[in-house]
Amino acid sequence: SSVPAKRPLTLVLASPRGFCAGVDRAIHIVEKALEKYQAPVYVRHEIVHNRFVVESLAQKGAVFVEELDEVPDDAAVVFSAHGVPKTVPEEADRRGLTSLDATCPLVTKVHREAELHYDMGRQIIMIGHAGHPEVIGTIGQVPEGTVMLVGTPAEAEMVQPRDPSMLAYITQTTLSVDDAAAVIDVLYRRFPDIVGPKREDICYATTNRQAAVKTIAPKCEALMVIGSPNSSNSSRLVEVATRAGCARSVLVQRAAEVDWSLLDGVSRLGITAGASAPEILVEEVVAAARERFDVTIEEVRVTTETVTFKLPQALSE
Ligand code: F3S
Repeated sequence: SSVPAKRPLTLVLASPRGFCAGVDRAIHIVEKALEKYQAPVYVRHEIVHNRFVVESLAQKGAVFVEELDEVPDDAAVVFSAHGVPKTVPEEADRRGLTSLDATCPLVTKVHREAELHYDMGRQIIMIGHAGHPEVIGTIGQVPEGTVMLVGTPAEAEMVQPRDPSMLAYITQTTLSVDDAAAVIDVLYRRFPDIVGPKREDICYATTNRQAAVKTIAPKCEALMVIGSPNSSNSSRLVEVATRAGCARSVLVQRAAEVDWSLLDGVSRLGITAGASAPEILVEEVVAAARERFDVTIEEVRVTTETVTFKLPQALSE
């Protein structure tokens, strides 16, 4: 009868967190495609940037590849939520593959903006992270050399457009709202005639998850973002939390890899999850915390989301 009492720990859950409508739709597309076309169904790139999601779908018969030349003829192939350059569906059609587009409709919206600017003869500045598949896909909507990629205010100071009176900007959907604003301020100062979206193209889910983590971070001594290292919006959540005043903010993929020494001296731990991280991974971390601490749950909701997206026609019948 000398089991030491567990130390109290309050878990502050940010809300909204986790899956967005675009991720939910993309995963459904792969599941429905497996029902309709039978395994294997090929998926070009991780359907969403989460190892747990990818492994679960692989177990059901999805085969993940990086490029179409790894997909056999006559197969069904799904394009990931991040979107693809125009050359990808073109090649799939040429080869007679059955293709299903899981590009998030909010990414497709940016693709159409890019095309429109190009048609109007405007040069385009994209604010985004070099090498991210969404950026590659969006730049690939218009002919090569049309888009100048800018990542920081310093880069925005350097960029030299052909004709500043015929200039537009677009953004990646998962940027930090504050970082994007700093870049856009520079662009407007240097190029007063630049044309763009009302503010940026950051999606509702990115905006809401950042707002929620910003609200809880100053009241927490440590904070965990559940997500994968290659997930852009998850990495941004760690940055937002750190800047909002929670220095001990970390990205973790799942409970098994949590370093609990992070919680030495901590009485309030914030938890959120990136848009590609399933709630089951949050539940796993909460359960692991309960084994070690006397846990109290506090949920802080900044807004309620009601966005949903329809499946592609081919799968909704
Ligand atoms: Fe779409 Fe935003 Fe999610 S762009 S996939 S709703 S993070």
